[in-house]
Amino acid sequence: MRCAVVGGTGWQGAGIATRIAAAGWTAVIGSRDLEKAKILQENLPPFVGLPAERFEAATNVDAVKDAEVVFITVPSTGHRAVLQSIKDHLDDEQIIVDVTAPVDPENHLSEIWPEDGSYTAEAQEVLGDEFLVVGAFKNVSATMLLNHTMPPNCDILICGDDLEAKHQLQLWIKQMGFQAYDIGKVDAAPTMEGLTKLLIFLNYAYHLNQPGIKFQELSPGMQILPDDDLFVKKS
Ligand SMILES: NC(=O)c1ccc[n+]([C@@H]2O[C@H](COP(=O)([O-])OP(=O)(O)OC[C@H]3O[C@@H](n4cnc5c(N)ncnc54)[C@H](OP(=O)(O)O)[C@@H]3O)[C@@H](O)[C@H]2O)c1
Repeated sequence: MRCAVVGGTGWQGAGIATRIAAAGWTAVIGSRDLEKAKILQENLPPFVGLPAERFEAATNVDAVKDAEVVFITVPSTGHRAVLQSIKDHLDDEQIIVDVTAPVDPENHLSEIWPEDGSYTAEAQEVLGDEFLVVGAFKNVSATMLLNHTMPPNCDILICGDDLEAKHQLQLWIKQMGFQAYDIGKVDAAPTMEGLTKLLIFLNYAYHLNQPGIKFQELSPGMQILPDDDLFVKKS
């Protein structure tokens, strides 16, 4: 499978490209500057211990051509512009995975929210309803993604309006080493995107190194008590 990573020359893009290559697919590292993409294409495979032929370099526009899935890994401040720059080169069968979080690239403890309410919604609005946009990978650190041989410390939340696209992405995410939970339509994105700031805060305030969110069931031995044993019965 061929996967484009738009803005793939940053940490999150490098992490996603690593997981793509670790799954056995081709990661096309996209950039506004082809030379910059080529440098990461050369440096990343030995760093993460994966075959060089699973990584390619291209401009953002060329990267998305012929890709089955397109990851958008740019900062909040460049999100709208980068989507506008690739829009005419996308097609309505590709799954567009929006990874951008409402973080101010100048100050990671500050947020920048778009008028649409979330970056997933902004992507859908800029590209149009016919495109398959899914928000995902917003609550996982680049470090976790790059450490592809280690058990993950988190799950991946996804949301978007197209059920089939989300099902397909969930299967791919499993192959990338994570459990994915579909948390709803695009209107669930503000909750999901807001968690990124919470994780960054925990990292700074409590020195929790690259925290993640993992969902777990009750431990064996714990029990769910019937309501009737505790509360006044409803008439
Ligand atoms: N880093 C993490 O651990 C992490 C975790 C969760 C979510 N995220 C989110 O993932 C996104 C990417 O994070 P990152 O840390 O990889 O960011 P980054 O390194 O600041 O940026 C990624 C790439 O985006 C491109 N870019 C930068 N400014 C741009 C602009 N104004 N217009 C178009 N492209 C621009 C650059 O590529 P070129 O110059 O090569 O074009 C850059 O290498 C962010 O929205 C972030 O909040 C990151």
